[in-house]
Amino acid sequence: MDTGTVMGTVMGTGTVMGTVTESVSEPASGARPSGAHGDGDTGADRALRHHGDAEVRGAGRELTDLAVNVRTGAPPTWLKARIAGSLDTLAAYPDGRPARRAVAARHGLHEEQVLLTAGAAEAFVLLARALRTRRPAVVHPQFTEPEAALRDAGHDVERVLLTAAEGFRLDPAAVPADADLVVVGNPTNPTSVLHPSRTLARLARDGRTLVVDEAFIDAVPGERESLAPLLTSGDASDGRPLPGRLVVLRSLTKTWGLAGLRIGYVLSDPGTVAALARHQPLWPVSAPALTAAEACCEPSALAEADDAARRIALDRAHLLARLGEFAPQGLSLHGSPQAPFVLVRHPEAAALREGLRSLGFAVRRGDTFPGLGPEWLRIAVRDEETTDRLASALGRLLAGNGGMRGTRNAERCQTTDDG
Ligand SMILES: Cc1ncc(COP(=O)(O)O)c(C=O)c1O
Repeated sequence: MDTGTVMGTVMGTGTVMGTVTESVSEPASGARPSGAHGDGDTGADRALRHHGDAEVRGAGRELTDLAVNVRTGAPPTWLKARIAGSLDTLAAYPDGRPARRAVAARHGLHEEQVLLTAGAAEAFVLLARALRTRRPAVVHPQFTEPEAALRDAGHDVERVLLTAAEGFRLDPAAVPADADLVVVGNPTNPTSVLHPSRTLARLARDGRTLVVDEAFIDAVPGERESLAPLLTSGDASDGRPLPGRLVVLRSLTKTWGLAGLRIGYVLSDPGTVAALARHQPLWPVSAPALTAAEACCEPSALAEADDAARRIALDRAHLLARLGEFAPQGLSLHGSPQAPFVLVRHPEAAALREGLRSLGFAVRRGDTFPGLGPEWLRIAVRDEETTDRLASALGRLLAGNGGMRGTRNAERCQTTDDG
């Protein structure tokens, strides 16, 4: 079954209103260990398991990180102090109850509707292992770990591929009607599309689990379009709860610069939360991570996160304006980005990425995302000064043919650490 291709084994392909569906089959050997990056991995596995951090590592020198969408630098001083304060409690096993209460209160939910996890990444594995599913579908392009976790758990995964021609917008009718598990990201990594909550709500139906990965929603002012409020108040259109089962995933990694701590959570109904919890080991979230979760739910932290989201919107506008200057050189932007990163297209994106690397900038390749190809790159939103430096580098690389010839030479000379 190993095709060795980036896209995996395509068993069947169909098109629904400009949206393509693919079935990706499991190897006959069935489940593979989760998180496997080593021997026996197929090209498809490697592509699914390529993440932005690989773009920053192994350069032999410090690169300006535009590949990982986590706040740069350290978490805020007040948060570091709170986490450091928790070190005095390390002799005791962690008690998750206060953090769970804090998360539940922040979302207006019951404690039984909250599961704290070691990042949203753990939740993908729990869902894949705990939920019975006959026909799981993953809406792509999106973060690849949900599909990787489902495949590791032995599931055949159907891909619903949104297209650039449609602005990577979701048409709920494109998802197979009998898909009993649907995973979608909002806002979506890497397209930066924020799907309207009403559109997402139309995916909900009896007998289906709808999983919405909202790892980046706290970077959207007001957490607009989040489905978390529907867990309590029902469908905005008629006040009734959504049919089927809704699972919302959150991460504290991005906004708070806590990727190394591993903290996120699941919001759902009590039965689903209990089913997922049964697949967690004892004490899955450390005391410092629990402290961070509690702290990040405080009103002042929520206000700070919202301020950061508004600043990101301004920085993103600057980035888009600067990138727009390179339209005559073939760099194109898509839709209305709403996340702390933007997706760009250029016919020589691979060479451009290598050229940027040689000039000290790491950007994220796009070709490891199902539905995208080598002409795509993802660029993180940073402060204006960083963006202006990036624009200067792009100016050097894209200034006439000589610039791109130089880039291609740089590409030939360089080896990278990613697959
Ligand atoms: C869309 C998306 N969801 C989830 C995650 C995982 O986040 P966490 O660090 O909380 O595991 C990532 C990490 O890059 C992501 O991009």
